[in-house]
Amino acid sequence: MSAVPRRVGVVGGGQMGAGIAEVCARAGLDTVVCEANAAATSAARERIARSLDQAVARGKADAGERDAALARLAFTADLDDLADRELVVEAVVEDAEVKTEVFRRLDKIVRDPDAILATNTSAIPVMRLGMATGRADHVVGLHFFNPVPVLPLVEIVTSLHTGADTLARVEEFATGVLGKTAIRSQDRAGFVVNALLIPYLLAAIRMAESGFATASDVDAGMELGCAHPMGPLKLADLIGLDTVASIADSLYAEFKEPSYAPPPLLSRMVEAGLLGRKTGRGFHTYS
Ligand code: CAA
Repeated sequence: MSAVPRRVGVVGGGQMGAGIAEVCARAGLDTVVCEANAAATSAARERIARSLDQAVARGKADAGERDAALARLAFTADLDDLADRELVVEAVVEDAEVKTEVFRRLDKIVRDPDAILATNTSAIPVMRLGMATGRADHVVGLHFFNPVPVLPLVEIVTSLHTGADTLARVEEFATGVLGKTAIRSQDRAGFVVNALLIPYLLAAIRMAESGFATASDVDAGMELGCAHPMGPLKLADLIGLDTVASIADSLYAEFKEPSYAPPPLLSRMVEAGLLGRKTGRGFHTYS
């Protein structure tokens, strides 16, 4: 096996990208976060600093570890700054065209032919992203769960072209370096977790949409009746309703099963900009 990557780039500094960058920096890795512009770059830095402060407040890190993690992070709005990376994790918006363009550009920018280009996509085929590059054998899915610093799982998704060496290195990176637990999935929309989770979230949205039960009662039902840490509508708000809708679209496009089709209420809420926690209102309101 070639060397396990130590110089990491993360494209996208939203809730997933920032979380991925945070766990990389906390694992001692030199980490560069690339965002679209200066304002988004500052927002990503703020998001990570806030989460590290929270880790200190919860006793998961001390102030020295927080400062050391922050010192390992660099931020840029120029994708060219990822040229020397050994692993780049793409975590931009869940849109196939946007992600494909990122992979097309990374293929030209990242110099090391052994570098791994990973995607945090939830449902877009890894193969499609690999085929946007001239090195599909080095492209792999590395799918984290939100909140990334808290949830231990990553899904590792291999396309038909992903090489055995790429798989071995990314698995060692996820488990040995980041300390996550990895499960493997084939390259089908939704992989393992979202193929199960999204129909459940959509069923909860349909319940609220039809007036069958209120959003609060649906959530209380699953929290108190099944010991889920949060009910499905709170979870949809946490993930982001735009992301839930995009994953549903990918699943429906792949399998054509009605349980994957986004309910009209979800589509209307996305059009209305009611995206959940990140906009302050979804199925619930947030201050
Ligand atoms: N760094 C490290 N640890 C942290 C932390 C941070 N920044 N912030 C919080 N924690 C720790 C806390 O110390 C606490 O740890 P202990 O249990 O050991 O005490 C734990 O995380 C829980 O933190 P809180 O007490 O603040 O919060 P909570 O108990 O209300 O839980 C939650 C919040 C973790 C979000 C929980 O409600 C939960 O797990 N919800 C479900 C989330 C989920 O299902 N996510 C998956 C979404 S699907 C996805 O992401 C993939 C996709 O493709 C859509």
